Amino acid sequence: MNLSREFDVIVWGASGFTGRLVALYLFNKYGATGDLKWAMGGRNLTKLEKVRDEVADKNIPLVIADSDDKVSLLNMVNRTKVICTTVGPYAKYGSNLVEACIESHIHYCDLAGEVQWIHKMINSHHKTAKINGSKIVHTCGFDSIPSDMGVYFIQREAKNKIGIIAQEIKMRVAAISGGISGGTYASLSRVLEEAQKDKTIYKVLTNPYGLNPTNDQIGEDKSDLKSVVFDSASKSWIGPFIMASINTKVVRRSNSISGHFYGKSFRYDEATIFGKGLFGRIKGILSTISIGLVMNAKHGSLLKKFLDSFFPIPGDGPTRKKMEKGYYNLRFYITLKDGSNAFAKVTGDMDPGYGSSSKMLAESAVCLAKDKLPNTSGILTPSVAMGNSLLKRLKKNAGLKFSFEN
Ligand SMILES: NC(=O)c1ccc[n+]([C@@H]2O[C@H](COP(=O)([O-])OP(=O)(O)OC[C@H]3O[C@@H](n4cnc5c(N)ncnc54)[C@H](OP(=O)(O)O)[C@@H]3O)[C@@H](O)[C@H]2O)c1
Repeated sequence: MNLSREFDVIVWGASGFTGRLVALYLFNKYGATGDLKWAMGGRNLTKLEKVRDEVADKNIPLVIADSDDKVSLLNMVNRTKVICTTVGPYAKYGSNLVEACIESHIHYCDLAGEVQWIHKMINSHHKTAKINGSKIVHTCGFDSIPSDMGVYFIQREAKNKIGIIAQEIKMRVAAISGGISGGTYASLSRVLEEAQKDKTIYKVLTNPYGLNPTNDQIGEDKSDLKSVVFDSASKSWIGPFIMASINTKVVRRSNSISGHFYGKSFRYDEATIFGKGLFGRIKGILSTISIGLVMNAKHGSLLKKFLDSFFPIPGDGPTRKKMEKGYYNLRFYITLKDGSNAFAKVTGDMDPGYGSSSKMLAESAVCLAKDKLPNTSGILTPSVAMGNSLLKRLKKNAGLKFSFEN
């Protein structure tokens, strides 16, 4: 992208729980007057000024735009090379912005994990974004960078080190610690509400290849795990992983739109490890029941209202201490094309949803603005949009570690 614009990056939604973390990270890492020219964006100037004074300083410019005001969005996007947005639920606030970014021929990244909305963006805008040279990159947080970039890393290492790529990868969540924000809970509730009302959305959510191009939605992968079973790969009891629904589809989309870089018969799945023996099995069953309750509670029902009372409201989220003490450890059990096995790990140094996601999103935005990127455009995945450049940034700056052994 060879645009001359006032800013490299605008963080839109900087007054929200996660946007504020992204702005704080950019300020601490890149400063206010250095090589990266960036601004904080939002809909409310007074609130934005207050947050800017808390996380940065007066050298950071402020930009005002509202999701319902298309003119304000176009004025904002025309000033920058990249929009980095944390204004969610994205299905509620995000569509006009994606359209504006494509119209302005700029790049875009977000933290959306809302499958039904990403599906809508692909159907409505992939072709125009491709023609206009815009990289629209959803899922630049915990869903789905560790999975998508993890698989990309494994395939690259396998090819470079042993000359054979992976035929099947089983990602297992070995350890995870963190919390949830009101914005994320609102986004999850919105996905479930839309799926309960509209059968076509339910179909997209339950199709393992639901984010692939329409002419490439078949393959050997089945639906995500819904019960507790014994896993021969990790030799433990495993159960559902709540993010698998978006992550596995993103990995499959990466394979499809990269021209099947991982092979047409590549298989991928995700689950959570609960441990060995009876204790592991019971832990898995209890966790699966809780996930089932949240996922199946009908919108507007008493059960849903009861469950809502346990979650934060938009604007709130985990404490700084909880984020700093957080972590995640993902294991990848690999079967290579020749039938031999390999193993990989991806770990993160803060809580997945906020401490780590804000760094991943910020580095994605800087990567889109500053780095040499693959010649791809459209509604992309992180690995297809940014490849090795993002991998380097995640390792160097965002606290992620990737390892591979065979
Ligand atoms: N995938 C991941 O790993 C991950 C991790 C974290 C968050 N997320 C997602 O990120 C999103 C934000 O979460 P959050 O907890 O930060 O939410 P939040 O605290 O509620 O923040 C939402 C932001 O959107 C702004 N906003 C609301 N309506 C707007 C409008 N009409 N026009 C412009 N701005 C508007 C709010 O502005 P005001 O301050 O003026 O109200 C606020 O800045 C959610 O969709 C969540 O699911 C994903």
